[in-house]
Amino acid sequence: MALWAGRFSKEIDKGVNAFNSSIAFDARMYRHDIQGSIVHATMLGDCGIIAKADSAQIIDGLQKILADLDSGKLVFDPNAEDIHMFIEAELTKRCGDVGKRLHTARSRNDQVALDLRLYLRDEITEIHSLTETLCKTLVYLAEKHTETVMPGYTHLQRAQPVTFAHHLLAYVQMFLRDLGRLDDTAKRMNVCPLGSGALAGTTYPIDREQTAALLRFDAPMENSLDGVSDRDYCIELANTLSILMMHLSRFSEEIILWCSWEFKFIELDDAFATGSSIMPQKKNPDITELIRGKIARVYGDLQTLLTMMKGLPLAYNKDMQEDKEAIFDAVDNVKLCLETFIPMLETMRVNKENMRAAAAKGFINATDCADYLVKKGMPFRDAYKISGTLVAQCIESGLTLETLPLEEYQKLTPLFDTDVYQAISLETCVRGRISQGGPSPDAVNRQLRQVKQCLHMTES
Ligand code: ARG
Repeated sequence: MALWAGRFSKEIDKGVNAFNSSIAFDARMYRHDIQGSIVHATMLGDCGIIAKADSAQIIDGLQKILADLDSGKLVFDPNAEDIHMFIEAELTKRCGDVGKRLHTARSRNDQVALDLRLYLRDEITEIHSLTETLCKTLVYLAEKHTETVMPGYTHLQRAQPVTFAHHLLAYVQMFLRDLGRLDDTAKRMNVCPLGSGALAGTTYPIDREQTAALLRFDAPMENSLDGVSDRDYCIELANTLSILMMHLSRFSEEIILWCSWEFKFIELDDAFATGSSIMPQKKNPDITELIRGKIARVYGDLQTLLTMMKGLPLAYNKDMQEDKEAIFDAVDNVKLCLETFIPMLETMRVNKENMRAAAAKGFINATDCADYLVKKGMPFRDAYKISGTLVAQCIESGLTLETLPLEEYQKLTPLFDTDVYQAISLETCVRGRISQGGPSPDAVNRQLRQVKQCLHMTES
């Protein structure tokens, strides 16, 4: 018999029950559901809405249910409508009439809104900490590579020299913004819907300040209609996670490139790569490809939530039950990706020589060659043209700017002197990029100090 059976003269159709039920996916919120119910029962007792003794018995019953669910002694009933109905029915089974008093001055509408906020608040804490660990892993790696020259790219064409540390720290900046977005999301969602009732509050003298405080919310939500029908926090979190995944996916794409034979900038540890069932030579970067693939579902989850909420009239509508699978999928997959990505980074081998060799090809010092002439007084546009002519000449003759004889330089302008070789050496090119935020070791060390401060890492 359903808890709402009074109004009905028939049992629910089996197929409809299965269709309607959410216990298969909302059971994971059982701890938060019980936490919310304990606080609600405490408040009901304190406000004299139910007897203190009843409140105490309910709390005791809920704690035992929690312990039994944790230990596996009690299993979820797949036929229950949802986790809220399951726990309330179990309480009544155990405590009789007293259990039936728990739902006084409450509706499943404010209950589910509460549970989801509590659940996601914990998930955000976990994702925040994983993202911090990722940043720290990148910082440790960057500290070892402030002198590791690699080509910087635009259009995936070798452009100007950077260092591996500089490249890694660009990702740290992205992930730091993700941390900020997680904080913002957590802050905005940290208001308590409990006490909104079904939609229009309640006639009982409840204390919403007390329940909000006991559940560590900043405040009760101001409007009961909004309290039960707001799912902005799911959308905001899915958006935050989509951006985080986008960063992970861009990084993954680079790692996939870097471990190709064409680049060979890094090599993944054997424990973090896979082989081919037919091609014995293969070592595939499956993890990063999966991350690049999984972003599709996280974007999909965001789209699901946005579309689900579009056009819903106030207040609660059953459509909103669809929120959970979407946001749980996003949260689960982001955690999985971070948990796998971090040790993969920690164990990968960096091939400095190949990075340097790639930087030595491709004329990534052509801008510096032009800048050399600018420093000797030539306008940049003229210098740019001469440098371009030299590059074309080198390509023609199979030389590089480093190996082109001085006479060839001087044919174009007498401003060239032997010091040009020093000016266009890779080391000079990197060291010279001292502008704030640039790749020179000095500028990168400054960046390292800044990110370490943001991450509360002690100075080494
Ligand atoms: N399982 C429901 C959900 O996830 C709980 C709220 C049900 N409320 C209702 N009035 N049917 O949204």
